[in-house]
Amino acid sequence: MTTTAEVARWIADARSVVALTGAGISTESGIPDFRGPDGVWTRDPRAERLSNIGYYVADPRIRREAWQRRADHPAWSARANPGHRALVDLERAGRLDVLVTQNIDGLHLAAGTSMARLIEIHGTIRETACLTCGDRRPMRETLQRVRDGDPDPACLGCGGILKSATISFGQNLDPGLLARAESAAARADVLLAVGTSLSVYPVARLPELTLAGGGRVVILNAEPTPLDASGHAVLAGRAGEVLPALVDAVVTRMRGTRPGVHVASRPTVEP
Ligand code: APR
Repeated sequence: MTTTAEVARWIADARSVVALTGAGISTESGIPDFRGPDGVWTRDPRAERLSNIGYYVADPRIRREAWQRRADHPAWSARANPGHRALVDLERAGRLDVLVTQNIDGLHLAAGTSMARLIEIHGTIRETACLTCGDRRPMRETLQRVRDGDPDPACLGCGGILKSATISFGQNLDPGLLARAESAAARADVLLAVGTSLSVYPVARLPELTLAGGGRVVILNAEPTPLDASGHAVLAGRAGEVLPALVDAVVTRMRGTRPGVHVASRPTVEP
């Protein structure tokens, strides 16, 4: 079995490292995942309909329920955890080129990940988007309208249907973001998949692109994933524990081979 020390050597020696995160990196911040043992959809399969654009557009009841869930979303009170901060330390050690996240909670930015290196491939809950004119506004403005009594707020510009600026099933990903993520994965020496079931395409294809490009795939997850057999290493466990230990090992190795590497943990910046 590949050890954390061996994975740390791969990362320390790599020309290009990409991290791919999923809902599992945010569960230790109090945000449930979707398909894990306590996942939102594991517990309530009907909830998946709220993430399907067809139902959302057709049924005002689905929209009203979606707006209530947005207003009550745990992301508003969540704080970045040691897993998010470990990826900031990896970036600051010069060992993380691109962070692709499927998460919409904004916690990587809150932890200090650079905007330039972050690809929020499934969008963000922190903005709204109009499905007709594309108008984007801060989510907090529209949530105030919901709290003031509007159960299904329409676009202030054109009257169109509003939703969070996230990608629902049935919607296409931003082609530019997807191209950036695929290009980074294809040229990565190491792709580190953290807290994702690797079950939703096209993002789940990124590790395959790394393998096809001759890179290594490392899977860090609390449960088995469909790609475990084809990955070069599987680090089983909680991201908030395994990631900091892995990044410490990377920095220690770099200090040994490249004196002067310094990683100063910055306090978490709240959104
Ligand atoms: N540490 C490591 N892994 C964890 C932790 C943790 N603390 N908590 C949960 N996990 C694992 C779960 O076991 C699961 O395998 O993280 C994985 C999360 O998988 P999903 O719930 O499927 O989330 P994700 O992979 O991000 O889903 C991808 O699907 O629902 C859509 O758009 C949504 O972006 C999401 C996409």
